Amino acid sequence: MIRSIIRGFGAALPKRVMTNQDIEAIVETSDEWIVQRTGIKQRYIAGEGETTSSLGEQAARAALENAGIRPEDIDLIIVATSTPDNTFPATAVNIQNRLGITSGFAFDVQAVCSGFVYAMATADLYIRGGMAKRVLVIGAETFSRILDWTDRTTCVLFGDGAGAVVLEAGEGEGKTSDRGILTSNLRSDGSHKDKLYVDGGPSTTGTVGHLRMEGREVFKHAVGMITDVIEAAFEATGTTADDLDWLVPHQANRRIIDGSAKKLGIPTEKVVITVDQHGNTSAASIPLALAAAASDGRIKKGDLVMLEAMGGGFTWGAVLLRW
Ligand SMILES: CC(C)(COP(=O)(O)OP(=O)(O)OC[C@H]1O[C@@H](n2cnc3c(N)ncnc32)[C@H](O)[C@@H]1OP(=O)(O)O)[C@@H](O)C(=O)NCCC(=O)NCCS
Repeated sequence: MIRSIIRGFGAALPKRVMTNQDIEAIVETSDEWIVQRTGIKQRYIAGEGETTSSLGEQAARAALENAGIRPEDIDLIIVATSTPDNTFPATAVNIQNRLGITSGFAFDVQAVCSGFVYAMATADLYIRGGMAKRVLVIGAETFSRILDWTDRTTCVLFGDGAGAVVLEAGEGEGKTSDRGILTSNLRSDGSHKDKLYVDGGPSTTGTVGHLRMEGREVFKHAVGMITDVIEAAFEATGTTADDLDWLVPHQANRRIIDGSAKKLGIPTEKVVITVDQHGNTSAASIPLALAAAASDGRIKKGDLVMLEAMGGGFTWGAVLLRW
């Protein structure tokens, strides 16, 4: 059977680092409060000329180089983002153009912080359905541009960046020992909209709007939702937490990550953490974390890796894959 195997990975971050101390000069907060409640120490903020597509292009080029293939070898680009360059065209098409390719097709996926998990599951279906052989899956965001920088309850949490992987069709035997994506579980429930949303949009206000969140409410649901989809992924494949080499969670908050890992019985040493360095980069956080752990040799060929995320909507999901 066909499997979608990760052949390359890449990451890109804006030039400017914003530390918690820098944020203390903008809103009434403290490094101590931010670190204690979230684990975040710094984040990267896009400057002039840095956009979702420019960061996405940089991450894509790094992933292509890592995979040892050329842009024209790609036949599908999927970009997970909630901060597109424009309302349309899709940021994926902008990135396709930036990469200098006119072949294949490209589109965006919008599932907020779960975007990369949704995009991986979507890419896997195109590959297994025979419609694409090599797919660039990119998570790219410039959340700094939809933050209310006077609202200390949200602006301290997010950052900008992009990460990408090249998924390629390969042969598998239909066993959990196969390399590639083994299963995906996606969920959504729109009744939670008011807990995490942007208060603008083309068809409502005609403006971009700002991110609004009831942090405590999000926190309350997060661990249960995350552990549900991860357990479903284990069940679908007959694997357990003991078989897992790495948990690569969406990097929203250290306390949510630790709470989920603890509930699942996954030791901290098996959890990839980047939230301290990047903050919450929404759809970019998982591919940024993957690139960090794969480039420093933690994630190795053959490792069993669980990706999971939860975000606005609510949306949530998990992808289990063998590297
Ligand atoms: C946002 C979050 C860190 C807030 O932590 P919390 O422990 O729930 O804090 P609360 O919202 O209850 O606020 C506690 C106090 O801190 C204050 N506070 C809020 N933001 C603050 C900040 N940046 N600096 C200092 N104080 C702050 C509040 O005003 C409140 O003060 P009060 O008790 O005098 O009213 C936490 O709810 C959280 O992580 N939620 C999930 C958010 C998330 O991950 N979203 C993305 C999902 S993809």
